[in-house]
Amino acid sequence: MIVLKSPDEIEKIAKAAKIVAEVLLQLKEVVSPGMTTDDLNRIAAEHIRLRGGIPTFIGYRGYPKAICTSVNEEVVHGIPGPRELKEGDIVGIDCGVTLDEYVGDAAMTMGVGQVSESAVRLMQTTQEALMRGIDCVVDGARIGDIGYAVQSYAEAKGYSVVRDFVGHGIGRQMHEEPQVPNFGLKGCGPRIRVGMVLAIEPMLNEGTHEVSVLKDKWTVVTKDKKLSAHFEHTIACTQDGPRILSVL
Ligand code: MF3
Ligand code: CO
Repeated sequence: MIVLKSPDEIEKIAKAAKIVAEVLLQLKEVVSPGMTTDDLNRIAAEHIRLRGGIPTFIGYRGYPKAICTSVNEEVVHGIPGPRELKEGDIVGIDCGVTLDEYVGDAAMTMGVGQVSESAVRLMQTTQEALMRGIDCVVDGARIGDIGYAVQSYAEAKGYSVVRDFVGHGIGRQMHEEPQVPNFGLKGCGPRIRVGMVLAIEPMLNEGTHEVSVLKDKWTVVTKDKKLSAHFEHTIACTQDGPRILSVL
C-alpha cells in the first residue's frame, strides 16, 4: 500500500529533509584529506541533534552510525570508521533524519581534495541522472518512467546502473512502498499521484552493474572494484510537479 501524504505531512518531511541537506552541504565543505569517515559521522550526528532531530540510520536493522560513507568502489552502506580519506578519493555520504515522527533521506558523492576528471564526470552524471528521474515525479506518471529516465541517461553516458538497491517511498517510515528502481520501462509500475513522497537514489558504476556485500554485512562494493557514485533526494509529488524536499 502506498501512503499518500497531506500538505501538512509533506511540510514535516521537508523539515526533516532540510536537516539532511544541511548535514550534506556542511560535510561537502569540510571534507579533506586526512579526515576519517568517523570524523564525518561525528559532525553529522552533532548537527542532527543540534537541530533536534534523530539520526534515523542508527539502529536501523542494527546499523551503528548516523551516516553511510562509501569510498571509491564502495557503492552504498559503507560504515564510518578509522579509515582516513586521501586526496583523489570520492566519498558518498548518505544521511537520514527523523523529526517530529517524519523522515527525510538524501545522499551526495563528493571529491576529497582534487579528484580525477573521470571521477568528476561520474559524479556529475549521477547527479544529472537523479535530476532526470526527479523530473518524472508528476501526477499520472508511472514509477517505471523514473527508472527509464535514470537508466537511459546513465547508459548513454557509458555507465551502468546498480539493480540490487532501489529508491523508496518515505514518510513516517524511512522505507515505504513503492520501490523506486533506477532502471525500467516507461509506462510500467505504480502510478504516481499528488501526495506521494519518494526517495530517488541512483547508483552509477564505471564498470559492471554487479555488486557484492563485504564481510561486515553492510558495505556494498562493485564486483570489478571500479568507481561508483550515489546521489539521493527526497521528493514530493505536488499539483505543480516535483518538489525536492532535501534542500536548504
Ligand atoms: N538512505 C539509504 C536507504 O535509503 C540508507 C539506509 S541504510 C542504513 O536505504 F542502514 F544506513 F540506514
Ligand atoms: Co534512501
